[in-house]
Amino acid sequence: PNVTYISPDGTETTLEARDGDSVMEIAVKNGVKGIVAECGGACSCATCHVYVDEAFVGAAGEVSDLEDDMLDGAESERLPVSRLSCQIKMCAELDGLKVRIAPKQ
Ligand code: FES
Repeated sequence: PNVTYISPDGTETTLEARDGDSVMEIAVKNGVKGIVAECGGACSCATCHVYVDEAFVGAAGEVSDLEDDMLDGAESERLPVSRLSCQIKMCAELDGLKVRIAPKQ
């Protein structure tokens, strides 16, 4: 499945992912700037905040209670489409996923 990252400056980067990779890991491994991921994917830093394209919000899965708490403390404004990218695992239904990287992490 493919995932496209939109940076705060509007740059788009599309990457090929493997099923089960998190949206955070794919970005970090490929040098996509703007996703900091201080905690390495443990859902405890909120520096991997993204805004998920409306069309994929359902396929991106449920927000856990822990993620919900962490999003409340995120540096950038929390929107209804806000997610922590380490908590979104790629799968066939997410092919073509687009996420906007939050401007502050
Ligand atoms: Fe820390 Fe996602 S990498 S919460």
